[in-house]
Amino acid sequence: MKRVLLSTSGGDCPGLNAVIRGVVKRAAQDGDWEVLGSVQAYNGILWEPTEIMVLNEDSVKGIHYRGGTILETTNKGGPFAWPVFNKREGKWEYVDRSEEMIRKLQYMGVDAVISIGGDGSQRISKRLSDMGLDIIGVPKTIDNDLSATDFTFGFQTAVHIATDAVDKLITTAQSHNRTFILEVMGRDTGWIALHTAIAGGADVCLIPEIPYDINKVLEKLRTKYNSKNRGSAIIVVAEGAKPKDGAVHSAVASEVGYENVRLGGICYDLSNQLKAAGFVPDIRETVLGHIQRGGVPIAYDRVLATQFGVKAFECVLEGKFGHMVSYRHPDIIAVPLEEAVGQMKFIDPESDIMDTARGCGISFGD
Ligand code: F6P
Repeated sequence: MKRVLLSTSGGDCPGLNAVIRGVVKRAAQDGDWEVLGSVQAYNGILWEPTEIMVLNEDSVKGIHYRGGTILETTNKGGPFAWPVFNKREGKWEYVDRSEEMIRKLQYMGVDAVISIGGDGSQRISKRLSDMGLDIIGVPKTIDNDLSATDFTFGFQTAVHIATDAVDKLITTAQSHNRTFILEVMGRDTGWIALHTAIAGGADVCLIPEIPYDINKVLEKLRTKYNSKNRGSAIIVVAEGAKPKDGAVHSAVASEVGYENVRLGGICYDLSNQLKAAGFVPDIRETVLGHIQRGGVPIAYDRVLATQFGVKAFECVLEGKFGHMVSYRHPDIIAVPLEEAVGQMKFIDPESDIMDTARGCGISFGD
C-alpha cells in the first residue's frame, strides 16, 4: 500500500475540507493508497510524538460543507524555521528541520505529499521539492491574488459574505442618512473589495492598486447627498488601500506605517480623513475581519476545491511532482512550482472588470 500525506497551512479558507475530501475520494478509487493528514501543517510530523490522522471515506464524510480545516492549520514555523526557545539567551531562535522531516516521512513510508496552502506555503513546497521530496501544491487564499490560477477557492465565499454585509449596511445607511465604510480583506490586492463593490452596489471602492485622493472620494460622496444632507453612501475599502498623499490620520497607521497596517487600520483612517476634509454627514465604520474566512463555503468554492483535490491526487498518480494545481478556465491544470510561487496577481486598472465598475458609477478616488 502506498501513502500520500496532506497538510493544510497558512490562514484558513472556505473549501479546505472539500480539497481534503476530493483527494480521499479520488484515492479510494485507486484502492492502493492510504491517505494521511498531518495535524497543524507540518507540525504533526515534527512533533514528538507525531500527530497524523488516517483519512478515509468515513472520516471525510460530509466535511465538504464545513468551513476551516479538519487538519487544523498554522502560519507559524514550518520545517525551515522551527521555533526553539534559547533559555540562556532568553529569546526565540529558528532552526531548519527540513532534512529531519524528509527522513521522518521516508520512515513513515510516505510516497508523496500534497500541500494545501498560500504563496508562503508553496515557497516551502518548492524548497522541499528541490530537496527531492515528491510534493504537489494546491493554492489556497481568499485573496485571489495568485497569478498562476484564475481563481482560488474561498474567494467567492469571501465576496458573498462581504456582499451580504453591504446589503445589510445599505438599509441602516439609508434609514440614518449615513455613510458606511466597510473594510474587507485582500492583503495587498483589491479583488475582494472590487467584486464586493460591484455585487453590493457600492458608491466608492478603494483598492491598493489605485492610491486614492481624498478630495475625489469627497466629490463622489457629495453627489449622494442633497442640500439638506439627506442621502447615504457605501464605501468598500480593501485592507491594503492607501491614500495618494500618504498622509496618516489614525493612531494605527501613524504607529506602524501604511505598509504594515492590517485589519481595521485603513477603515478608521479613512473615516478620520473624511471628517478632517469637512464631510458633514454621519460616518460609521465596519471591519468585517475574519468573518470573511469563516463558515460554510458556497457551492462554487466547493466545486473548485473538489476539482483541485481530485487533480492533485491525479498528479500523484502521474508522478507529476514539483507542480501546483491551478484553474485556467475551463481547465484544471498543473503548473511547475517555480512558475507559480511569488507571482502575485494585481488588478489592472484598465481591465474589463474595472470598466464594469466605473460603468456602474463606482468611484475609485482617482
Ligand atoms: O491571506 C488571507 C488573509 O485573510 C488576508 O486577507 C488577511 O490580511 C490575512 O489573511 C489575515 O491573517 P491572520 O489570519 O494572520 O489574521
